[in-house]
Amino acid sequence: MKFFEEKRREVMKHIEKFMLEKMNEYLKPIDTIWQPSDFLPDASRETFFSEIKELQESAQGLSYDLVAVLIGDTITEEALPTYESWLTMVEGVSDDEEGGWMKWTRHWTAEENRHGDLLNKYLYLSGRVNMRAMEVSTQYLIADGFDIGTGHDPYRNFIYTSFQELATNVSHRRVASHAKKAGDTLLSKMCGVIASDEARHAKAYKYFIERTFEVDANEAMLAFEDMMRKKIVMPAHFLREVGLKIGQTFGHFTDAAQRLGVYTAIDYVDILKELITDWHIASVTDLKEDGEKARDYIMALPDRLLRVAERMKNPMLEYKFSWIDG
Ligand SMILES: [Fe+2]
Ligand SMILES: [Fe+2]
Repeated sequence: MKFFEEKRREVMKHIEKFMLEKMNEYLKPIDTIWQPSDFLPDASRETFFSEIKELQESAQGLSYDLVAVLIGDTITEEALPTYESWLTMVEGVSDDEEGGWMKWTRHWTAEENRHGDLLNKYLYLSGRVNMRAMEVSTQYLIADGFDIGTGHDPYRNFIYTSFQELATNVSHRRVASHAKKAGDTLLSKMCGVIASDEARHAKAYKYFIERTFEVDANEAMLAFEDMMRKKIVMPAHFLREVGLKIGQTFGHFTDAAQRLGVYTAIDYVDILKELITDWHIASVTDLKEDGEKARDYIMALPDRLLRVAERMKNPMLEYKFSWIDG
């Protein structure tokens, strides 16, 4: 075990160098990147109330499920404190404030923080949401935390974030196109710019793991296998509403997403396939016996999951969220 820990520390030192180097490539300059106010009615202008009226009229066209998914997505984004504190607990990385890990974590958090800000303000202005119920869910989710099966292992963490950033890219992108179809071009634009942030972040995390495979292939493969055996759970899997127990709302949220086609079991498989391709899993060399077995498992997994996904019925159960009145 000691050997693995030392090796990981060594590898992370190597990766942290890239985290500093690549920060300007994968994160955008703060002065010029979009801010929530670029999309929202400006309260200092005379046109404020007419702009809100327009926003509310467009939001009327959004379906119940779409509003529910958007609220779930927003709460997921708003639980950012959970993700930041989790990243700082990873083992084998430097906690030097100016080192690669901490600097990346702060800058990534700073970019992500805009997502919840923007969506929250939009939902508040839309008039479609019981804000108090939504805020209770947000406070619960941050208080409850999450359990995503990575432990404090840096490899599992980056594999998780690679997957998760791709998943959020898909779901924000799909909400954007649903919103557009429903005639809400403002919301569509908002979700579009958020989706492209997520895509950049995914590239970064995938790159870090790609570098890890180059220097510690066997352990990286075992970590990938382990995360896929456990299944990637969404960061909001503890989602609940007022009066409910931990996680009781989450299934209804994912049902709505599956029904709408915003994020489905097929998307899960597509993301897995993308990671297999981008990390060149089929051609990784220097594997030990357990690493080879792990690879076999991973390579066979997309087809297996597809067969399961094809048999899955679309969840039809209608559920009334406390977040939405009527
Ligand atoms: Fe985000
Ligand atoms: Fe993200």
